[in-house]
Amino acid sequence: MTETSHDRLLIIDFGSQVTQLIARRLRELNVYCEIHPYQSVNDAFLAEFAPKAVIFSGGPDSVTREGSPRPPRSVYDLGVPILGICYGQQVMMQDLGGLVEGGKITGGGGTAEFGRAYVVPSDKTDDLLSGWFAEGREQVWMSHGDHVSRIAPGFEVLGTSTHAPFAITADRSRHFYAVQFHPEVHHTPNGKALYENFVKLAGFTGDWTMGAYREEAIRRIRDQVGDHKVICGLSGGVDSSVAAVLIHEAIGDQLTCVFVDHGLLRLNEADEVVTMFRDNYNIPLIHADESDLFLGELDGVSDPETKRKIIGRLFIDVFQKHANEIEGAEFLAQGTLYPDVIESVSFSGGPSVTIKSHHNVGGLPEKMGLKLVEPLRELFKDEVRALGRELGLPEQFIGRHPFPGPGLAIRCPGEITRPKLEILRKADAVYIDQIRKHGLYDEIWQAFVAILPVRTVGVMGDGRTYDYACALRAVTSVDGMTADYYPFTHDFLGETATRIINEVEGINRVTYDITSKPPGTIEWE
Ligand code: XMP
Repeated sequence: MTETSHDRLLIIDFGSQVTQLIARRLRELNVYCEIHPYQSVNDAFLAEFAPKAVIFSGGPDSVTREGSPRPPRSVYDLGVPILGICYGQQVMMQDLGGLVEGGKITGGGGTAEFGRAYVVPSDKTDDLLSGWFAEGREQVWMSHGDHVSRIAPGFEVLGTSTHAPFAITADRSRHFYAVQFHPEVHHTPNGKALYENFVKLAGFTGDWTMGAYREEAIRRIRDQVGDHKVICGLSGGVDSSVAAVLIHEAIGDQLTCVFVDHGLLRLNEADEVVTMFRDNYNIPLIHADESDLFLGELDGVSDPETKRKIIGRLFIDVFQKHANEIEGAEFLAQGTLYPDVIESVSFSGGPSVTIKSHHNVGGLPEKMGLKLVEPLRELFKDEVRALGRELGLPEQFIGRHPFPGPGLAIRCPGEITRPKLEILRKADAVYIDQIRKHGLYDEIWQAFVAILPVRTVGVMGDGRTYDYACALRAVTSVDGMTADYYPFTHDFLGETATRIINEVEGINRVTYDITSKPPGTIEWE
């Protein structure tokens, strides 16, 4: 649970795949919310959390099953508005005296329903539905096996669909609302209005802004760290950059950043990072140029997993070596984000916490006896970007494509040599320049060049060439878990290939990778 002075909304997670989207919708409305798995929500938790409203998420279980997930009974006595979604709707109905049944009902009354449906209003209405039904009906997304066959006493029907006679119900005196569909997903286009109305009637003022977050985070960092020292591994990526600038604003020179240059960075990357932090922000920065060490150990290695292991091991050693020089360091700062810390409900064995060890420094806190400072733990990626803007970081840093910890090593299949890295850097710089010039950078999740371990024959001027082939990669993605290749025009591809071949000595053939993920991965290794 995070300390905050803002009104907060509690999302009780029953294991839906889209619970995070509820949080996204609420954050967009400047409402502070936290997701907690139902197992950890008990009477004491509720009393301490003191939510101003509660949302029950969807979930894969069936309330008709003995022992299925439930909130504590006391949630209904808090006197705050509750919104139940899908499984959450059924929980609410069952708990409050209605009836939920599984399977198909013949002769009307409701069936299992998956996909798009349309809800129409009943003759009753409520502030929850302000802005809804302007066109007569609303498209919604259904995904349920069970259905409510009798609503709980005190509830009335506000909306119905062909297969869901109780699509929207409400106990208006208590502000308990139950919807069968998922208002948080994209396929319920007007879903945001329901959340907006719900938080408004719960009395939220939308006070959770980035400016407020910044001040609160600074106060918390100061309280946590006191007069101790903090070290922060900088990669040049947006998360660690924003974390560093925020912590520096909180504790000034008590923060030292360590930037490990493994010799596998992009063109001018090390200079840009060092200039920004040391020169622009005056943040104490150790620039550890360890390229000889990394490239030395990678010499002759072509197996992708071996490359990753060597880089991971050296990174920890080097980071630790430099961190040891900072006397009195008690804390390690990490740019961990909210999606990495949400305790998602796992039906295979209790709540599971997945904390992504920020690439390359995983394992260090225990090894070095350091405590963690993670000021971005409550934020989603786009909120980190908003905070970065609030802190005045240059747009060039904020909007950057992700870059993997092992860097160019995994974009250089086969053996890694300095000449190949030089060629790769130059080709990558031309490619990114092309993408920026054509105004495509922000539409693309990630774009880069991979240098292939083959040389091919070409002809330039009157001469024969025998140079490397490279592959261009560009993908769109929401989270990097799945991805589609970006559909450049042939003109763009042709122009880019010509520029790379003309401007980069060592490359005479350019290909475009049109593999999606899955079955491919984004990186080549
Ligand atoms: P793949 O290649 O697995 O990559 O589809 C998905 C996303 O993760 C990035 N990536 C990494 N990031 N350390 C990182 O910090 C790594 O070892 C690593 N490997 C892949 C990749 O760039 C893409 O954004």
